[in-house]
Amino acid sequence: MSKAGRLVVLVSGSGTNLQALLDASADPSYGARVVAVGADREGIEGLVRATKAGVPTFVEKLGDYATRADWDRAIAAKIATYEPDLVVAAGFMKILGAPTLDAFPVLNTHPALLPSFPGAHGVRDALAHGVKVTGCTVMLADEGIDTGPIVAQEAVPVLPGDDEAALHERIKTVERRLLVENVGRMAREGWTVSGRHVRIGNQSGGEST
Ligand code: GRF
Repeated sequence: MSKAGRLVVLVSGSGTNLQALLDASADPSYGARVVAVGADREGIEGLVRATKAGVPTFVEKLGDYATRADWDRAIAAKIATYEPDLVVAAGFMKILGAPTLDAFPVLNTHPALLPSFPGAHGVRDALAHGVKVTGCTVMLADEGIDTGPIVAQEAVPVLPGDDEAALHERIKTVERRLLVENVGRMAREGWTVSGRHVRIGNQSGGEST
């Protein structure tokens, strides 16, 4: 069973999910702490949040490498220097390659109820489809786009008059709590993966007792 005390969090934007993890991990009983924050671009609020919290940061830009494979190796090597138990992609807008996925468990968060609306525009796509309920998904990353085993999901209503920004903010309020709850439980209780099924701690997984 894996445990997740040391977190490396990867961000590409505002970093409010990162902030929620930083805030939660200020309490030692949370069971996990952010030991480094990585990004694929400079000048983002997520890096400022890390620095304010006294957490080391690194940036690995795809454009600085001759090939995607070179970037994949470089970011995996940088992550490895912080010896994480779990990597959390929290609004990280790049697909991680085998060098990272083979070395560490990677948790991802997505603003839709997978397998509906994967990809970079999950909120926009759900709105365009006219769904009445969407939500967020915390899942383990695999080599696909938002295809990994699901850890947790929560529904969020779509309200009349919602635009993408309003709906995304409503989803993110739930998403931050879901991410913090599940990273904490994974850290404290451990988890196992069997095929597509993730089990945290001694959760029964639906069997009768
Ligand atoms: C989240 O909704 C995440 O799922 C999506 O982008 C958003 C990132 O928000 N990919 P933040 O940077 O954590 O504020």
